[in-house]
Amino acid sequence: MKLVSVDKLIPGMVVSENVYTLDDRLVAPKDTILTQKDIDRIRSYSLYNIFVEEQMKSVPATEEEKEVDVSTLSYAQKLRNTEEFIIFKQHIEDCSEQLEESFRLLANDSIPLDVDKLTEPVYHLFVEAGGTAGIFDMLHNLRDNADAVFMHSLNVSLISNTLATWMKLPKEKIQVATAAGLLHDIGKMLVPSELLTKKKPLTEYEQRAMNEHVTRGYGLVKNKDIDVHIKNTILMHHEMRDGSGFPFHLKGDKIDEIASIVTVANVYDELTSKRLYREAVCPFTVIEEFEKRGLEKYDPNAIMTFLGNVVNTFIANRVMLSNGKVGEVIFINPDHLSRPTIKCGDEFIDLAKNRSVSIVSVI
Ligand SMILES: [Fe+2]
Repeated sequence: MKLVSVDKLIPGMVVSENVYTLDDRLVAPKDTILTQKDIDRIRSYSLYNIFVEEQMKSVPATEEEKEVDVSTLSYAQKLRNTEEFIIFKQHIEDCSEQLEESFRLLANDSIPLDVDKLTEPVYHLFVEAGGTAGIFDMLHNLRDNADAVFMHSLNVSLISNTLATWMKLPKEKIQVATAAGLLHDIGKMLVPSELLTKKKPLTEYEQRAMNEHVTRGYGLVKNKDIDVHIKNTILMHHEMRDGSGFPFHLKGDKIDEIASIVTVANVYDELTSKRLYREAVCPFTVIEEFEKRGLEKYDPNAIMTFLGNVVNTFIANRVMLSNGKVGEVIFINPDHLSRPTIKCGDEFIDLAKNRSVSIVSVI
């Protein structure tokens, strides 16, 4: 045991006698292994010296330190700690604010519609995400942002670009898909703002008013000098191939090819994002739904290409299963895309065979 000045305390020293304040309040009990937090607290009480053991011990990790112990972090948690992700998140939020201002001015007809200028930040975001391969990693970790219209527009633009690239479309069409994804919901600037910020599901009447964003948006751009696919996408991005969409219940090839790409991107982003009135849906649940009904509702090439590629972006991700176990996605089964093989410790769970278990969230 030795007497040490509080100015000389260092983390790892072990308190050998209870430490009290001058008015007899316990500050650190005997056997406390001092952390920097304890030392700061002891110093704040104007104490001079305390007794500590001769031997030091390793300091237990604080809750915050435990959180950044990278060896125990999931793939997603590690990604969220990278500088690239932090910068990307900041930039997409900045872009979202800029887009809100641009959309507001466009809706008032205060500025000309310059598609190239509007989509420029999207390409910067791609570079920051490390290209097409990295974009889903980024987007999957930005699912909590309920800032519906503008962040969603950026996401849909990024996903449409990626999907058009996966479909091996020519460069010009990829650019049109990027712009169409960005502008698809511009008509939402013309629906009552309280519908966009409502924290509960819309009533039938409100939903009808909301659905008008497609025709209102089209009205805004129909006489502008922009690519016709962008105009069609604004009008048709809620049409479904089986005729169950709106506003015209168009079927099959009557739906614009670029609109068909944006539709897939739109539905995927919409469902996997948190909204003011509901939690985000697990991507594997969305993929399962796409597998079941995708070919009826969406362009076959767009949906099959999307599914075949998007599942691969989840390899190495940590997931929670419906049986409470946590594991990593290690193998995608091409015949059952929503039911990969999961490694839980030493156990391998093939969800394609084990149908009673499913993925409930990516963590
Ligand atoms: Fe929409």
